[in-house]
Amino acid sequence: MVSCALLWSLLVISLSGTLAQNAGQLTFDLVVKDNQPDGNKMMYMAQAAPGGSLFGAMTRLSNSNHSDFTFNSSEHIDYGAYLESVNGLFGSLQDHTYWELLVQTANGIIRSSVGISCYIPQANEVVILNFTTW
Ligand SMILES: *[C@@H]1O[C@H](CO)[C@@H](O)[C@H](O)[C@H]1NC(C)=O
Ligand SMILES: *[C@@H]1O[C@H](CO)[C@@H](O)[C@H](O)[C@H]1NC(C)=O
Ligand SMILES: *[C@@H]1O[C@H](CO)[C@@H](O)[C@H](O)[C@H]1NC(C)=O
Repeated sequence: MVSCALLWSLLVISLSGTLAQNAGQLTFDLVVKDNQPDGNKMMYMAQAAPGGSLFGAMTRLSNSNHSDFTFNSSEHIDYGAYLESVNGLFGSLQDHTYWELLVQTANGIIRSSVGISCYIPQANEVVILNFTTW
């Protein structure tokens, strides 16, 4: 299981009532950049529970009938869900490609220090899934 201290403490708050009262979802932009020669940049309006994980928001978005967003992930024992593919494009050990998680901030674009299971989207922010190399 993921050890995600913040997430767990928020879960406890939510179970104790504050967030459980059907709190509204917050919206943020999820940008998908596949960086392929024929590729494009997709932008989705995503919704997360307050204090909820990016993984949850991505799952909700992929289940929604209003978007064509899909992704695959695998469970990593220490880091939670590892993003394997987005919209059908898979990272590859052989090609040294992967999906990196970036966040647009007032100081520019930064790489998230945590994965999609532990990242907690904030209202109106821009989260970028960027297909890149290592
Ligand atoms: C999406 O559409 C299917 C088939 O029309 C329906 O069964 C399902 O409940 C819908 N899902 C959502 C989240 O609206
Ligand atoms: C990836 O996820 C899709 C649904 O989003 C699923 O249909 C497909 O089987 C998955 N592929 C792999 C390789 O896990
Ligand atoms: C995304 O990945 C591409 C390809 O590796 C890279 O050129 C670019 O700097 C990365 N970051 C952003 C914000 O596009």
